[in-house]
Amino acid sequence: MTYQNYSLKQLQQIDAAHHLHPFTDHQELREAGSRIITHANGPFIYDSEGAEILDGMAGLWCVNIGYGRDELAEAAYAQMKELPYYNSFFKCSTPTPVLLSKKLAEIAPKHVNQVFYGSSGSEANDTALRLVRHYWVLEGKPEKNRIISRKMAYHGSTVAGTSLGGMDGMHKQLGGAVPNIVHVMMPYAYELALPGESDHDFGLRAARAVEDAILEAGADKVAAFIGEPVMGAGGVKIPPASYWPEVQRICRKYDVLLMLDEVITGYGRTGEWFAAQTLGIEPDTITTAKALTSGYQPLSALLVGDRIASTLVEKGGEFNHGYTYSGHPVACAVALKNLEIIEREGLVDRVRNDTGPYFAKALQERIAGHDLVGEVRSIGLMGAIEIVKDKATRERFLPAGSAAVIVRDHAIAHGMMLRATGDTMILSPPLIWTRDTIDMACDRISKALDLAQADLRKR
Ligand SMILES: Cc1ncc(COP(=O)(O)O)c(C=O)c1O
Repeated sequence: MTYQNYSLKQLQQIDAAHHLHPFTDHQELREAGSRIITHANGPFIYDSEGAEILDGMAGLWCVNIGYGRDELAEAAYAQMKELPYYNSFFKCSTPTPVLLSKKLAEIAPKHVNQVFYGSSGSEANDTALRLVRHYWVLEGKPEKNRIISRKMAYHGSTVAGTSLGGMDGMHKQLGGAVPNIVHVMMPYAYELALPGESDHDFGLRAARAVEDAILEAGADKVAAFIGEPVMGAGGVKIPPASYWPEVQRICRKYDVLLMLDEVITGYGRTGEWFAAQTLGIEPDTITTAKALTSGYQPLSALLVGDRIASTLVEKGGEFNHGYTYSGHPVACAVALKNLEIIEREGLVDRVRNDTGPYFAKALQERIAGHDLVGEVRSIGLMGAIEIVKDKATRERFLPAGSAAVIVRDHAIAHGMMLRATGDTMILSPPLIWTRDTIDMACDRISKALDLAQADLRKR
């Protein structure tokens, strides 16, 4: 690799001249310059100036086994030498997607036994949308094609992903969404519960918004409901315990399919392989990507329940959909090794029994009391910190989102990578974090909160 021959300034100039970044204001990027991450090891990333930063976001919710794993590099190398690519169209297959599918069927909920591959979470959601609509056509109910989603949901950034998602800013730039997708309220008690309404009652009310949307359209017009078990990019919004069982009951009552988007929660983050298992629900599709390879290769897997899969087989006819890289042999080899490591190191159990509870306690005991913090919440190794001006009234700083950015910038400057979304700080660290790493993160976040508070006082 020859980047060492370039100075940071040169790399930033070349980046600004030639590289358009995702979700970025390119005018601001020109002025500020990008942060260039050059290497990483274990839980740490390093930038071109040599700063060591604890990665509280596992890259982008994906590097669950941490950085610098030779075994994954070796698995990719071996597979590239043997068979770098062959497609899985035209009744062909290659060994690694076959074996990965078997493994995924073993760890997925019992009624989920088939897998459709892509290269990103967005693609997998595109597949999921196509598949549930195709299912109802095969079942002789083509008019049953409406999808219910939620405001502030994030389901990716392709046209289908954006249409399924509920982000206003993304919709505004879409110039026409995929038709027949509607968005209902999100289960976010901190901002949406009524005065005096318990979390339990709020969860039921948010679930009934799904029922209302079904009744408004007519159940014979609704194909499916899609949701992230925990809304991730929208701010790690953890629904009350009453929400998902009620959504499942409603979907069953009206024969509406349940699509669970586990692109963030899949592969151990909530303390089970999948959040469906944590929540005790039985979705018809489970969208996964990211931690399937711990981000070492781009790969997504749409896990498909028996109900849909058996209709595909029984009714026959081609499903006119697929990608050149569906079941890419190298990506699948890396995924197999990644899952082997997660299992060998007991990372899922560790999150459930040790680091998840410790993380929750540390956030409560060390962060929640800070003057700037309105609420902390977590599930497994996924957490959020609400930044407020007034703890009691939950009033926010203005302009919206500005205070969280100040906290984030101080955190990064003090060796802690976390993300600000709106007024919420979010954390989704590698599952290799230990109690000591959690303590280190809390030290750095506390420091960032103190410094941000001093800045905000001066404003
Ligand atoms: C819940 C969810 N679904 C889908 C996606 C899209 O995944 P990708 O960026 O790999 O297309 C994301 C990305 O963060 C996500 O969080």
